[in-house]
Amino acid sequence: MNQPVLVTGATGKTGRHVVAGLLAEGVPVRALVRGPAGVRLPDAVEDVGGDITDPGAVAAAARGTAGAYLLWPGFGTDGIRETVEALTRHAPRVVYFSAVAAGNDPDSVWGRVETAVRDSGREWTFLRVTGLAANTLGWADQVRAGAVRAPFGRASRSLVHERDVAAVAVRALLDGSHAGRSYTVTGPESLPQADQVRVIGEEAGLPVRWEEQPEEEARAEIAETMGEVYATDGMAYWASLVDTPEPVSRDVEEVTGRPALTFREWAREHAGDFAPHVSR
Ligand SMILES: NC(=O)c1ccc[n+]([C@@H]2O[C@H](COP(=O)([O-])OP(=O)(O)OC[C@H]3O[C@@H](n4cnc5c(N)ncnc54)[C@H](OP(=O)(O)O)[C@@H]3O)[C@@H](O)[C@H]2O)c1
Repeated sequence: MNQPVLVTGATGKTGRHVVAGLLAEGVPVRALVRGPAGVRLPDAVEDVGGDITDPGAVAAAARGTAGAYLLWPGFGTDGIRETVEALTRHAPRVVYFSAVAAGNDPDSVWGRVETAVRDSGREWTFLRVTGLAANTLGWADQVRAGAVRAPFGRASRSLVHERDVAAVAVRALLDGSHAGRSYTVTGPESLPQADQVRVIGEEAGLPVRWEEQPEEEARAEIAETMGEVYATDGMAYWASLVDTPEPVSRDVEEVTGRPALTFREWAREHAGDFAPHVSR
């Protein structure tokens, strides 16, 4: 493939692995980045400055590409259609990092992006993710302190390694046989949150316990940082996972030809991220 593939969110949790995966396949990569990159991109990447909500910048970045990895950041829905139109005017194939919620709720942010991409008439593949293993990095300070205090320790999640999301994305970007497919992208097991913390502690070599946080206290805390809607929806979703664990799909294995990575493998790789800070 001589034309570049555009990667949006290239400095993020999945985007950085999409970049690495494409480069490993010998595919030229262009990245849309805003401001100075938080994570330095490899030298081989052509970076184009711009914001994903600026259709002009998106069109310029997409011009002449063979396809694009699309990440729509945050939960705002304004500007989705304009951005997707600008992207698909030039990129003939779009692989979108979506969420399982898109399947149940077309009005969710992910559902709206999917609709806009589908309406473009271009080739598309949707990666409907349950949750990224990297979300547990949000517990790092509490792990270091010896206890993670959060609600719904028995809520089971099928968290997926970010590299697996990227591996599926790379296959879909390079191989047109994945066009028109919505993949459910999960880890190989559904693990209660309290067990995720136990596994992190074991792999990081730290004594850490789960401390069940009362629901009302958790709801108020989340509402303060993420807003009321997110808090209400999030709490209801986690509560539902106590009796109905998140689904486990075999799509990663079917697309990549190898089993999905386990949460323990992810925790082993990230043991250093949970390690105590060393003061100098
Ligand atoms: N995390 C999950 O478990 C999960 C699961 C399913 C779906 N999703 C969806 O995936 C999306 C990303 O979530 P994430 O937590 O995984 O994020 P992330 O990839 O770790 O970070 C966001 C990326 O997007 C870039 N970005 C943010 N705002 C931008 C803008 N206005 N213009 C251009 N680039 C921008 C960031 O670049 P900078 O370096 O400039 O910040 C960063 O590279 C969200 O829509 C989320 O709902 C997440």
